[in-house]
Amino acid sequence: MIKVRTEEEIALLRENALIVSRTLAEVGRSIAPGVKTKDLDALAAEFIRDNGAQPGFLGYGGYPYSLCISVNEYVVHGFPSDYELKEGDIVSVDCGTVYKGYYGDSAYTFGCGELSAADQALLDTTKASLFKGIEAARAGSRTGDIGFAVQSYCEERGYSVVRELVGHGIGRNMHESPEVPNYGRRGHGVKLPEGSVICIEPMINQGVKDVYLDDDGWGVYTADHKKSAHFEMTVVVRKGAAERLTTFDFIENNK
Ligand code: MF3
Ligand code: CO
Repeated sequence: MIKVRTEEEIALLRENALIVSRTLAEVGRSIAPGVKTKDLDALAAEFIRDNGAQPGFLGYGGYPYSLCISVNEYVVHGFPSDYELKEGDIVSVDCGTVYKGYYGDSAYTFGCGELSAADQALLDTTKASLFKGIEAARAGSRTGDIGFAVQSYCEERGYSVVRELVGHGIGRNMHESPEVPNYGRRGHGVKLPEGSVICIEPMINQGVKDVYLDDDGWGVYTADHKKSAHFEMTVVVRKGAAERLTTFDFIENNK
């Protein structure tokens, strides 16, 4: 069952979404060559708590950190570590919060220093595909419409779509129904009711779509070790057009 949220619940989800959005911007400002990814995790945990929320990922299904930091060929669920970022890395930062019983979830892939043109294009395409997916999310449309929008945009540009991980509903749990795949067929899948809240999160690869699970049981990396990007937003399904609860404005416009 897909839950329809009251405006009161949406207000709480929005508060979470803004904390997550601000946290990602804080982390982004600290990304530079030589910075350890575990230091970004500590910074995020502190920032989230300073804002009255709790890290949403910490302890979730046994996950041991506040952020997922997935560098280069890592797709998602990378553990923060002693790894020192270097110029040219692409760094997916996925952040969740829980506040007043509700969850927030968003991800952004940052460049560390100057990126190659090919890597910048991967980031640009993945982010643009998220916005295509959001455009396809409106009351009465189906999860397949979102998946089709993301997949066709990326595949037309020569990228591949990870199949093993999908977007999701969000509310009192981080992962609720429906599943929101980044691939699919128009007119197929679950119908989205007005007032439902979902996370759309394309994971897009430069090379093959296949991925492997790391020995740590969490990290997901591309089978060919080519790079992968990940952007995620939480949105409310409305009539006509979805309402974004998360924002990249704090990251991109230095708000
Ligand atoms: N943001 C991820 C998602 O959308 C959640 C990370 S899973 C966790 O599914 F276990 F690390 F929390
Ligand atoms: Co998510």
